[in-house]
Amino acid sequence: MSYLKQVDPEIYEAIINETKREFNKLELIASENFVSEAVLEAAGGIMTNKYAEGYPGKRYYGGCEFVDIAENLARERLVKLFGCEHANVQPHSGSQANMAVYFTVLKPGDKVMGLDLSHGGHLTHGHPINFSGMLYHFQGYQVDKETEVIDYEKLIEQAKEFKPKMIVAGASAYPRFWDFKKIREACDAVGAYMMVDIAHIAGLVAVGLHPSPIPYADFVTSTTHKTLRGPRGGVVMCKEKYAADLDRTVMPGIQGGPLMHVIAAKAVAFKEALGDEFKVYQKHIIDNAKALAESLKEKDYRLVAGGTDTHLMLVSFIDVPKLTGKKVEKALDKAGITVNKNTVPFDPEKPFVTSGIRIGTPAITTRGMGVKEMPIIAGFIDRAIKNRKNDEVLAEIAQEVAALCGRFPLYRERLEE
Ligand SMILES: Cc1ncc(COP(=O)(O)O)c(C=O)c1O
Repeated sequence: MSYLKQVDPEIYEAIINETKREFNKLELIASENFVSEAVLEAAGGIMTNKYAEGYPGKRYYGGCEFVDIAENLARERLVKLFGCEHANVQPHSGSQANMAVYFTVLKPGDKVMGLDLSHGGHLTHGHPINFSGMLYHFQGYQVDKETEVIDYEKLIEQAKEFKPKMIVAGASAYPRFWDFKKIREACDAVGAYMMVDIAHIAGLVAVGLHPSPIPYADFVTSTTHKTLRGPRGGVVMCKEKYAADLDRTVMPGIQGGPLMHVIAAKAVAFKEALGDEFKVYQKHIIDNAKALAESLKEKDYRLVAGGTDTHLMLVSFIDVPKLTGKKVEKALDKAGITVNKNTVPFDPEKPFVTSGIRIGTPAITTRGMGVKEMPIIAGFIDRAIKNRKNDEVLAEIAQEVAALCGRFPLYRERLEE
C-alpha cells in the first residue's frame, strides 16, 4: 500500500488499524468473514474503472470484452454452485437483490409475508422504516413462543387468511434449519410467489449442509460476503421464466453501472466455494457453532431455540434482571470480542438496547480456530459478562484474546509491509 501511504496517510493509517483490529480481536459477528487475498486483489483491481451497463454481449458501452469474461464466469460459477436456472450477479448489495425481486413481480401495495425483524428477519423483509415496509403491505410471521422455531402449520394458516402475493423466507438471526418445502406449501395454498433470502446461510446451502431452497423457490437472493466469504455484494437466482424480467429490473430498473471489480471478486469467491476445501470449511463453521453453543449452555446461558443448526446462535438475557444486549456488547468489546446486540423473540427492549446478542463462527473458522478453541472463547465471554463493570479484568481478557488470535494469524503480510 505504498501509494496510499504517500497520497493519503490518514486513510492508510485507518486501514492499517482496521487490519490490526481484525487480527487481534475475536470477530464473532455472524454476518462477517475474512476474504482471501485473491478476492481482495480482484476487488481492489482495475475493473473498478469500467462502465458496463447492460449484460455480457449486450452492453451500452464499448471496451467490455474483459469485464464480460468476469461477469460470465461469475454467473456460470454461481449457477453451478447452487444448481439454479438463472443468476444475476449485479446487485450491489443484499438489500438491492431483495428490491430487485420485489420490483420484478410485485406492485406497490401488494400483500407480502416475511419473518418479523424481532424474530430474526431482516429490515428488507417488510420493516416499516425500510422501503419494503413502505411500498408493500407486509404482515410478519413469528416463531412459536415455546419452541422459538417457526411453526409452519401456523404459517400456512396465516397465509390462507392473509392471502399474500409473496412469502419471503430467510433471516438474519434464526439459528435453526428452514423447511423450504413447507414454505412452498404455504405459497401454493394461496398462489403466492416464494422468495428465499439465503444471505446468511448461502455457504452452508452451497455445500449441502443446509437444505437448499432452489427446488422450491421462484427467487433466491443472497449476499456474497457472509458464510459465502466473497466481497460485499448481492446476487439473485431464479427460474428461467423470470430471467428476462429480473435482469431488466436490476438494470435499468434499480441500478446503473455494475461494480465490475466486485463482480470479478464474486467470480473468484464462487471458484473458491466450488473447491473441496470450502466444504470442509463450512462443516467446521457448524462444528464450531455447535461446540460454542454447548460451552455457553454449560455455563447456564440461555440460547434461543435451544441451540443452533447453523453458523449462528442467539444468547438471550431476557430472564436476567438488568442485563441487556447493549451492555453485553459493550463489555465484550472492551474484552476484545466483537458481537452485536440483537433482539430475541418477544423482546421487551428496543432494537438499540435488546435482550440478546448474536454470535457467529464464520470468521473465526476462516482464521483456523476449531472446536478446541470454543470452550476457551465461551470462557472469555462468560468472564467478560460477569466482570462487565470491571475495566481491569476486561483489559486482562483482551490481552488473552489477543494472545489466542496471535496463534491464528490473519493478513500478516499486510501488517509487515
Ligand atoms: C437476511 C439478510 N438479507 C439481506 C441483507 C442485506 O444485505 P446488505 O447489507 O448487503 O444490504 C442482510 C444483511 O445483513 C441479511 O442478513
